[in-house]
Amino acid sequence: MTSEISHQSYLVRGRAGGSAKAAAAAAAVLLSGLALSASAHAAEVAISCGATGAELQFCKDGADAWAKKTGNTVKVVSTPNETTERLAIYQQTLAAGSDAIDVYQIDVIWPGILGNHFIDLKKYMTDAEVAEHFKPIIANNTVGGRLVAMPWFTDAGVLYYRKDLLEKYGLKTPGTWEDLIADATKIQDGERKAGNDKFWGYVFQGKAYEGLTCDALEWVDSFGGGALVDDKGNITINNPKAIAAFTMAASLVGKITPDGVLNYAEEDARGVFQSGNAAFMRNWPYAWALGNGPDSPVKDKIGVVALPKGGDAGKATGALGGWELAVSKYSKHQDAAADLVKYLTSKEEQKRRAIGGSYNPTIAALYQDKDVLAAVPFFGSLYDTFTNAVARPSKVTGIRYNQVSTAFWNVSHSVLGGQMKPADAVVQLESELKKIKRSGWLTPMGRAGQAASCPPAAAGTEQVPLPASALVIASEAKQSRLLYSGLLDCFASLAIDEASR
Ligand code: GLC
Repeated sequence: MTSEISHQSYLVRGRAGGSAKAAAAAAAVLLSGLALSASAHAAEVAISCGATGAELQFCKDGADAWAKKTGNTVKVVSTPNETTERLAIYQQTLAAGSDAIDVYQIDVIWPGILGNHFIDLKKYMTDAEVAEHFKPIIANNTVGGRLVAMPWFTDAGVLYYRKDLLEKYGLKTPGTWEDLIADATKIQDGERKAGNDKFWGYVFQGKAYEGLTCDALEWVDSFGGGALVDDKGNITINNPKAIAAFTMAASLVGKITPDGVLNYAEEDARGVFQSGNAAFMRNWPYAWALGNGPDSPVKDKIGVVALPKGGDAGKATGALGGWELAVSKYSKHQDAAADLVKYLTSKEEQKRRAIGGSYNPTIAALYQDKDVLAAVPFFGSLYDTFTNAVARPSKVTGIRYNQVSTAFWNVSHSVLGGQMKPADAVVQLESELKKIKRSGWLTPMGRAGQAASCPPAAAGTEQVPLPASALVIASEAKQSRLLYSGLLDCFASLAIDEASR
């Protein structure tokens, strides 16, 4: 069974008043009582899955296999493609203490933001099972000593190219951004002369969202300009290498990259590349399986290498992405939900997903598996790119990460669109990051347990103590201008809950 979660349905939930909520809760108890008597042990577990490319189907097949094996049932809930929108929905659902989703598919950058809402999975996994996974991801998913999510698949930005076109124009794969610009220009000129006026040299993710943060981080890191905020929490973005990176990126748009890139997410870039209208593309590994699918116009014509270096002294780098599975504290079926997580993150299931969907395993041993390497050869050749990928500063900035990233992608978007000069961009970004950091980076443990008040703007809400995490989510939503009014409603209901405890 698949269902859609929309913003609207959650806003409606958030607006429910005290008595309506009590009635709903009573109805839920009644219903769950009925369900329990119908089936003494089986649980229905709801899992939220991404829907980029074939993601939803892969999730559904895995979850169904688990249901068949255990006698439980699963409800697969699809969430928006874009990670930024998904976060907003998760924040609402979790802040409301909703039990609508038992298992959350969460981005690698969210354990710090959402971790307090998830159970510790350590008691469900053996030490050997945990030790199979890449250590840095386990460390990333451990918040305040609690393993709040199990690694499901990892990701790193890579460069896709058309093997046939590089051969046609006598080119090698590009080592630096300069090479890429020269090669893409040559191919674009040639293909347009040959009659394809829709042809572009290079496509990537340029929309103002988390995906652009990844692309822009890669530009900056490839020039040796750091990762915005270093491991100690220092803001490092205002440096000449970052300016060089932004200058390079701005020079792409309108030349080898369509202006429309300012509105491209992963699937938009894939659409252009997979239909045969681009020579190069920056994307995540999932695009490999789809690009080589039976009805893909570029089937067997694709190669994958590391992204270019920022000059000869720069480095080939890819942003670290990936997705984890977490069990909600508000779930009524925590044992079954954790068992589903154990199944989906297992070696067997990760192997199935690697072969069929080119999702990078988080289990090191699978990078030596013959079947996996035959299906996705670059899992072998780019092993170092995957294990040395540059992480976004989500661990060190904790709950503040989404604000940091929003500031970064907005400035990067203005640079790409030509509204801001690279040299001004790094100064402005530095000053915005300083403002965000003013009260310190807010790691979940740093403020845990501290009481805060409900924002006065929430109409009809008394000032009552709320957990600090609630206030942080409110200010974050305001910052990103996402669902601000909806969240205030949500906090109003949270406040009522808190007061009636
Ligand atoms: C991919 C990555 C994820 C990242 C997102 C940005 O899904 O795995 O970590 O945040 O892209 O669009």
